[in-house]
Amino acid sequence: MSHLIAAEEGGEKLSTDELITTCILLLNAGHEATVHTMGNTVKTLLERGIHTADEKTVEEAIRFDPPLHMFDRYVIEDCTLFGHAFKRGDTVKCLLGAANRDPVPYPDPNTFDPDRTGPVNVAFGGGIHFCVGAPLARLELRVALQVLFARCPNLALAGTPQYGNTYHFHGLDALRVTT
Ligand code: HEM
Repeated sequence: MSHLIAAEEGGEKLSTDELITTCILLLNAGHEATVHTMGNTVKTLLERGIHTADEKTVEEAIRFDPPLHMFDRYVIEDCTLFGHAFKRGDTVKCLLGAANRDPVPYPDPNTFDPDRTGPVNVAFGGGIHFCVGAPLARLELRVALQVLFARCPNLALAGTPQYGNTYHFHGLDALRVTT
């Protein structure tokens, strides 16, 4: 936030409204997505008796159970893309969660396999709006999981994890564990 307040380009600074909305964006985008990924990943790993988290494990966890399944795009001019005709005002739903389970780039997509090769998953979106926090999220997840398993080497599920019935975020309401 200090850097945002100090930021200046060509003599222009962010207005108070811009500062506040950017902070809200960073809190929502940057906090909740990572929190849910953390829960989803702990669930995925404990269900398989895995108690380690290297980069490959984190990457596969993000593909396997991402916190955001769908983002919208709005068509601003009539166009045809990939054989589909769109009209101005149409909404396009980008199903990131489904794309991550596409069997063509990810053979046997419903299997959790940290050793899989293939393209990078699309959990962080793509193109001009690609997640600005992706490197931070990957780092946070790896560090947090490594500390968690170091401190709780016997961590185990104590019940069936419950997903929340929410529209936007795909994450757990409850994840009961024993240490
Ligand atoms: C596992 C964690 C995360 C996931 C899965 C995730 C996912 C995404 C996705 C799918 C988008 C693209 C939205 C779109 O195409 O409309 C996005 C955008 C964004 N993310 Fe993340 N995100 C995560 C963590 C973070 C963190 C830690 C930050 C910041 C500290 C962050 C900040 C943002 C911002 C500012 C955008 C908007 C970028 C733009 O529109 O140019 N995200 N994120």
